[in-house]
Amino acid sequence: MRILVTGANGQLGNEMQVLAKENPQHTCFFTDVQELDICDEQAVQKCIAENGIEVVVNCAAYTAVDKAEDNEELCRKLNQEAPGILARAAQANGAAMIQVSTDYVFDGTAHIPYKEDCPPCPNSVYGFTKLGGEKEVMQNCEKAMVIRTAWLYSIYGNNFVKTMIRLGRERESLGVVFDQIGTPTYANDLALAIYAAINQGIVPGIYHFSDEGVCSWYDFTVAIHRIAGITTCKVNPLHTDEYPAKAPRPHYSVLDKTKIKKTFGIEVPHWEKSLVECIKKLEV
Ligand SMILES: NC(=O)c1ccc[n+]([C@@H]2O[C@H](COP(=O)([O-])OP(=O)(O)OC[C@H]3O[C@@H](n4cnc5c(N)ncnc54)[C@H](OP(=O)(O)O)[C@@H]3O)[C@@H](O)[C@H]2O)c1
Repeated sequence: MRILVTGANGQLGNEMQVLAKENPQHTCFFTDVQELDICDEQAVQKCIAENGIEVVVNCAAYTAVDKAEDNEELCRKLNQEAPGILARAAQANGAAMIQVSTDYVFDGTAHIPYKEDCPPCPNSVYGFTKLGGEKEVMQNCEKAMVIRTAWLYSIYGNNFVKTMIRLGRERESLGVVFDQIGTPTYANDLALAIYAAINQGIVPGIYHFSDEGVCSWYDFTVAIHRIAGITTCKVNPLHTDEYPAKAPRPHYSVLDKTKIKKTFGIEVPHWEKSLVECIKKLEV
């Protein structure tokens, strides 16, 4: 397959690059904004046509959830309009597309894991624009998969794991919310799932993917510190209203992964097992 990966310098894009080495049967074109601005319709069409792209994996996005509340126009351009540009260009070339989306398409008021057919109800600019992007992709590309994920971290870029390790080493105590529940996702695990879908053949539709298990941000932090050997920082549980943020966060955003596991025969590791893997790599 000839695969175009956009946003290749981000967390997921980098993990797609790492796993490309284990998938030498594919010819991958890794691009970030310097090589291919996904908002530039002509450049996207040219890139997909001239390189004979068969699958587009869009890892590019506006991911600054709080800043998005003040930058709606840019956020909409990147998260909603650009996926539409990619989807139309993919369709014109008979290519498939994998669009990565988010648990923020839900408002987090559920008490059981979200299935793909639960009605979306975002309550942030980021969530609304990502949902808009999902619709653009599903409406404009016949062979399209949307994979919603959550709480993504990796050895690349800035993320919660790296921040908690740094703060844990700098501070004697730290407050972290315990009333927001979800599942961490090691971007390497998501990249594995994406290659599994490509290798087995794209099955159009919406899918959910995270690692296995459930925790709060507080539990996640305690585990990060334990695994990283940080013993000098006390982690205190906070209520959401004690840690105000510009964009509302879903209180419960556990994703039900049954569909993607069954469709592609994927085994998903528990979040803590993958966290150990990631921290081991961060420390070498
Ligand atoms: N991070 C999470 O916790 C999380 C949770 C759920 C879902 N997701 C979704 O998962 C996907 C991957 O997230 P991530 O954390 O890997 O994102 P990320 O690390 O923020 O990477 C996004 C990449 O896209 C690039 N980009 C920005 N504007 C672009 C443009 N116009 N054209 C091409 N590339 C552009 C960024 O470059 P710059 O850095 O230079 O802007 C960056 O390299 C996204 O769809 C995100 O919405 C993320």
